[in-house]
Order: sequence, then structure tokens, then C-alpha cells
Amino acid sequence: MSKIVIMDHPLIKHKISLLRDKNTGSKEFRELVSEIAMLMCYEATRDLPLKEVEVETPLAVAKTQVINGVKVAFVPILRAGLGMVEGMLNLVPAAKIGHIGMYRDPETLAPKEYYCKLPSDIASRETYVLDPMLATGGSAMDAIDALKQRGVKNIKFLCILAAPEGLKALSEAHPDVPIYCAHMDERLNSHGYILPGLGDAGDRIFGTK
Ligand code: PRP
Ligand code: URA
Repeated sequence: MSKIVIMDHPLIKHKISLLRDKNTGSKEFRELVSEIAMLMCYEATRDLPLKEVEVETPLAVAKTQVINGVKVAFVPILRAGLGMVEGMLNLVPAAKIGHIGMYRDPETLAPKEYYCKLPSDIASRETYVLDPMLATGGSAMDAIDALKQRGVKNIKFLCILAAPEGLKALSEAHPDVPIYCAHMDERLNSHGYILPGLGDAGDRIFGTK
């Protein structure tokens, strides 16, 4: 089973309440997704390795620490994962960005990959797969399969809301991939939507419904 980290920060809880509200418009929804992603990035990068360096302050030499040569990539699952990129980049501006396009067949809920463009050195990067919604888990599992096929070994998955069904499926399919989830919801409905959820994340981010 994967390592699963569920966030318990009050700022994240507050922002998720605003996200869920059906009266929250696209502009505010996008801002909230970005802010939550930034707070999650802080937690998900907690284990980055450090090395000691010396820095001259105006007064003395300080022995201090910097991140030790880790190269990072963020890979949003299109479309909704795009909403998380800016918040992540606020904290790790040197990260490279890949894109994986997936949509769920509305009848079968099976994910279909329609786009994949990744940094050429992705295999050597610590890679954070981003998608606000983990519902059945199909999209996340296929996106991570696609990365592993290209040699990526060090993968983390970040989502804002997860259904228990998706969390279980993803953690069984990819037990080596830690899952960072801002909140675990109750269940899926018969159309594969997360309850109580927040609706269709892509439509709410991009105002397409
Ligand atoms: C949503 C969401 C995830 C997927 C989750 O995308 O952003 O990618 O559904 O569902 P799953 O866990 O059951 O696979 P959607 O297919 O609606 O595409 P969109 O982001 O382009 O709207
Ligand atoms: N995708 C969404 O955008 N919302 C859900 O509730 C499930 C999948």
C-alpha cells in the first residue's frame, strides 16, 4: 500500500469549504485551487534532501542548508490538473512541466489518454503528478503508468479531493507512489462523481458549464 498523507491544516480545510460551494465562480475557484496546491506542495516536498553550505551574512559566516541537487517535474493531468501548477511553481519555480491529457469516457468511466508531452529528462526527475480529483482512480493510475513506461521512478501523486474507492485502487496499483490528498470524501455516485465533492473540477476551473 502507498504512503497516504491527508492534510489537516485549517487553511486547507477553509479553502476546500469555499471550493465546494456551488456559488463560487471560476475566478475564485481557480485562485483557491492554486492556493491549496501551494499549501500541499509545502507538505509534499517535506522530504527533499538538504546539504550544508556556508553563506556570508552582512555580519558573519552562517552554516546553513540548501536543497541538494534534486530536479523536480510537475505533471498536471489535463484539464483540471492545470489549475494546480501555478501554486506548485510558486514554491518550486525551477521545476519543469509535463502534460498528460486524459478524459473519462462518460459511459464506462474508463480514462483515455489523448496527449502526452514530458521534459526530455523526466526519468531523472522527482515527479509530482497533479489532479484535483481522484474519483475511480483510473486517470491517475493510467497517467502514472505512462510515466513509469518512460522510465520515471520517483513519483508522488497530489489531489485535492479523493474518494475512498480511488484512493484504494491507486494505492494498490502503484504502492510505491505516495499519495498526498487534501481531503478524503465519502464516496462516488453512480456516475463516478465524488460526493459531496465539488462537481466537475475542469468545468469549474475553466467555466465550461
Ligand atoms: C476529471 C478529473 C480527473 C478525473 C478523475 O477529469 O480532473 O482527471 O476526472 O476521475 P477518475 O479518478 O475516475 O479517473 P475529466 O475526465 O472530467 O476531464 P477534464 O479534466 O478534461 O474535465
Ligand atoms: N472528476 C471531477 O471533476 N469531479 C468528480 O467528482 C469526479 C471526477
